[in-house]
Amino acid sequence: MSKKAEIVAMTESELNQEALIRAGEILKNGGLVAFPTETVYGLGGDALNPESSMKIYAAKGRPSDNPLIVHIARMEDLKKIVKNIPAKAMVLAEKYWPGPLTMIFEKSEIVPMETTGGLNSVAVRYPSDRIAQELILAGGGYVAAPSANTSGRPSPTTAAHVEEDLGSTIDMIIDGGSVGIGLESTIVDFTEEVPLVLRPGYISLEMLQETLGEVRMDRGLLITDEKTRPKAPGMKYRHYAPKADLTIIEGDEECVVKEINKRAEQNARDGKKTGIIATSETASLYHCDSIKVIGSRMEEETIAKHLYEVLRSFDDEDVDVIYSEAFYTPQMGQAIMNRLLKAAGHHIIQV
Ligand code: TXA
Ligand code: MG
Repeated sequence: MSKKAEIVAMTESELNQEALIRAGEILKNGGLVAFPTETVYGLGGDALNPESSMKIYAAKGRPSDNPLIVHIARMEDLKKIVKNIPAKAMVLAEKYWPGPLTMIFEKSEIVPMETTGGLNSVAVRYPSDRIAQELILAGGGYVAAPSANTSGRPSPTTAAHVEEDLGSTIDMIIDGGSVGIGLESTIVDFTEEVPLVLRPGYISLEMLQETLGEVRMDRGLLITDEKTRPKAPGMKYRHYAPKADLTIIEGDEECVVKEINKRAEQNARDGKKTGIIATSETASLYHCDSIKVIGSRMEEETIAKHLYEVLRSFDDEDVDVIYSEAFYTPQMGQAIMNRLLKAAGHHIIQV
């Protein structure tokens, strides 16, 4: 039976306490509430209730061996759900929590296997968004939350995206406007001898190394053969896939523009519609059916923030083929290209 999620709007500076208390009650009673964070919208359920986690998997259509991140809103709540907190993790927490950082630890007994996808480790994040924090506290302190999209679609960066995917399967959506960052948190695994990045995000490998010394990047993220699988179960799926075929064209600007225009013309002759992910610097140089400006090359924050929205918007148009420029920007380039490469099924052409 499908119901309609209640949608309540609020901002970080004007919280709706009455709605937050009700949202907390929904969570405590085993229901699901979608909420904004600084990275992407999350689909929250009580992390300590196995049935809530099962409901999350069902709502997203997500395989139940893909573990959920447990969100907290008080530093002192960490020790109840994990067994070992390495000194380096504390250093990182002091620097980046609350914020777009998820850390993986050995889990304690109270965290159900349903939440961790059967693993003995648990991923924990302390988000900086005030709406998220208040909701977590209202819901009892431990909220399991994957991104609030249907499995396989781009993560939601607005409440409207959440409504599109989950509006008829969950209890409430808190609309806090557009998120700040637009890409999911950086995940660092502390169950390894050397801290291991399982998913790049706003906090880059270089920033982590600056704070911790040696940090490694999961080889499974860089190599794409069948044997080298990413350690985070969720990173192995072809996520964020638009309906049309996406190809990344990489090289210097002039060559990229020429190559994409050439391909767009050929597509037109073949009766296929072309979409392009361009920057404000290049948009006017392209000729094709649909050109989306992701942002300026000078502002990587804008590119990160618009990536998922742009990928989603192509799904509402009938383009057959999409080309994108590459975005190896200084801080978030690894994260942006990781998501874009996954969306493209690693189809990249150098010119
Ligand atoms: O920014 C974010 O982290 C957002 C917001 C809502 O906080 N959440 C998010 O959750 O991106 P999700 O479920 O879409 O992605 C979680 C990723 C998956 O790739 C999952 O496999 C991995 O984290 N993960 C979770 N627990 C893990 C564990 N114990 N070991 C290895 N990977 C884990
Ligand atoms: Mg996700």
